[in-house]
Amino acid sequence: MAIKKILVTGANGQLGWELSQMAVSYPQYEMIFTDRSIIDLSKPETLTSIINEMAPDAIINTAAYTAVDKAETEKELAFAVNAKSVEQLAVIANERKIPFITFSTDYVFTGNATAPYTTDTALAPLNFYGSTKADGERMATAANPNTIIIRTSWVFSVHGNNFVKSMIRFMKERDVLNIVSDQKGRPTYAKDLADATMQMILAIDAGKNIKGVYHYANQGETTWFEYCKKIQSIMGLTCQVNSILTVDFPTPAKRPGYSVLATDKIEKELSLAIPHWETSLLECINKLS
Ligand SMILES: NC(=O)c1ccc[n+]([C@@H]2O[C@H](COP(=O)([O-])OP(=O)(O)OC[C@H]3O[C@@H](n4cnc5c(N)ncnc54)[C@H](OP(=O)(O)O)[C@@H]3O)[C@@H](O)[C@H]2O)c1
Repeated sequence: MAIKKILVTGANGQLGWELSQMAVSYPQYEMIFTDRSIIDLSKPETLTSIINEMAPDAIINTAAYTAVDKAETEKELAFAVNAKSVEQLAVIANERKIPFITFSTDYVFTGNATAPYTTDTALAPLNFYGSTKADGERMATAANPNTIIIRTSWVFSVHGNNFVKSMIRFMKERDVLNIVSDQKGRPTYAKDLADATMQMILAIDAGKNIKGVYHYANQGETTWFEYCKKIQSIMGLTCQVNSILTVDFPTPAKRPGYSVLATDKIEKELSLAIPHWETSLLECINKLS
């Protein structure tokens, strides 16, 4: 069945917003962008009737409970949004026989590997947010084996809250900043991820068999400290940035030391050339300025 109407959840999030900005480039699709006032993932039991009324030909779920530290205490809500509702969306897609793309995270892994996580690496989340995302993956796949999961990491965008915007603000306001240097990962520009998601939709629409788990992150790897220094140099800010260790910056939810995702599967299957994170960071900061 050709895709005509695409339902996108989480319209006000980083990824949802980037998708909404590029919808004009895909005039062959009617893209319906919904926020929590229309589709509320804290209420999985409400989803079927609302979505069947919309009658989409594909669902892209960018909405998620992403407050990593708060998830340690708001467990029921985080599980409803990230697991129960993702399962329900998968059920709906299965019944309608339509593609379902949802997003997951590097936090489903142990965080102590020494080589990039592949799409086959065993899940072993180290905090509650990660465990809700891992449950969402497993429950959705069990309900609908055609579910497509794209895991990503360290997302930034001109829109919404993220490390890049926080660091720019802090470096303007403060004389000294302490940033952890023993956590390694791959930053991801939400616009690049949105692009890849639309490439995936085009491939599915062209009849390519796509299902299961994919990883998407920008090329290259870095630490939060090096990332902050890069932002500082692009912005020409003079704040003193010190490198500290994770043990000196305790947070309610544990953070992974090593979070590098291997992205070769999506590059190969979609013939994607993923930009380096420094190139995309520059593009994002240029837009912000
Ligand atoms: N951000 C990252 O660094 C990161 C890293 C790895 C993976 N991911 C995953 O990538 C995907 C996209 O993330 P993102 O960075 O775009 O997230 P985001 O900017 O935090 O946006 C998440 C969106 O979900 C919405 N939402 C939260 N609870 C909801 C509910 N009950 N019903 C409906 N909508 C709800 C939020 O609505 P409001 O705007 O109303 O709050 C927000 O617009 C998510 O699956 C996330 O888990 C993100």
